[in-house]
Amino acid sequence: VFDLSRIAGSELVAQIDFHESLGSTNDRALEIGASGDVKLPLLVLAERQTAGRGRGANRWLTSGGALTFSLVLEASEELLPMRNRPQVALVAGVAVAEALSNYLSPHLVQLKWPNDVLLGGRKIGGILSESIPGWTNRFVVGIGINVNNRIRGSELAGMATSMIDQDGVERGLTSVLMTVLDEFDRGWSELLKQGFGPAAKDYRERCFLTEKFISVAQHDGSRVGGMCRGIDDYGGLILRTPSGDQALISGSVEEWKD
Ligand code: BTN
Repeated sequence: VFDLSRIAGSELVAQIDFHESLGSTNDRALEIGASGDVKLPLLVLAERQTAGRGRGANRWLTSGGALTFSLVLEASEELLPMRNRPQVALVAGVAVAEALSNYLSPHLVQLKWPNDVLLGGRKIGGILSESIPGWTNRFVVGIGINVNNRIRGSELAGMATSMIDQDGVERGLTSVLMTVLDEFDRGWSELLKQGFGPAAKDYRERCFLTEKFISVAQHDGSRVGGMCRGIDDYGGLILRTPSGDQALISGSVEEWKD
């Protein structure tokens, strides 16, 4: 399925760890990332995952035909302060959205904060970023994209979709992966050199939640509701509430309406 020598030519990747089948590329990336002796960025790539994980307690079900991979990345505290780490997942979301726009109608590709990638309002890709225990400068960014796997006709069809569901075209997974890696390479270097500003601009153009009334569940169990005013220059979600604007730095958007 994958042309590994072509992938090895990617500007971003220094080492590849490929598997036909794996529980979760994020689990494998966390394991290798913690082992020390590895060239970074490392790409962990699997044709199939049997225990893919989503954000929170969610699972990420993947049959063959989807693109599932994780990157182990490293950046010093000077280049990327810990408090800005969540921006990497937002940059990855922008990269996936830009990549998909090369194949599908660009105006249909949007981002739902923090980093769900939507096509026509339905989820086509997700990102799971995790810290590596014991390492302060290294972390994992896992990306899943529904490419040639069909969702139409399944119970998930109302909320999820895939590239092949959209236009019936079967695509080379290597090409889609290379496009995402190129976009991410650009966004990642830009983030390290210029900060989050340029990515914030790209994100705003694709923000699905802007002008929608939403409710956000925060990690401490509290909930805040209001009209979404897009994202700020740090990647936080701005909510207009009766008591003024609030910027949320994490949470999950539970409901929305226009
Ligand atoms: C989400 O939307 O909740 C995040 C989904 C992330 C799925 C990807 S698939 C590759 C990598 N390995 C995993 O186990 N999860 C991520």
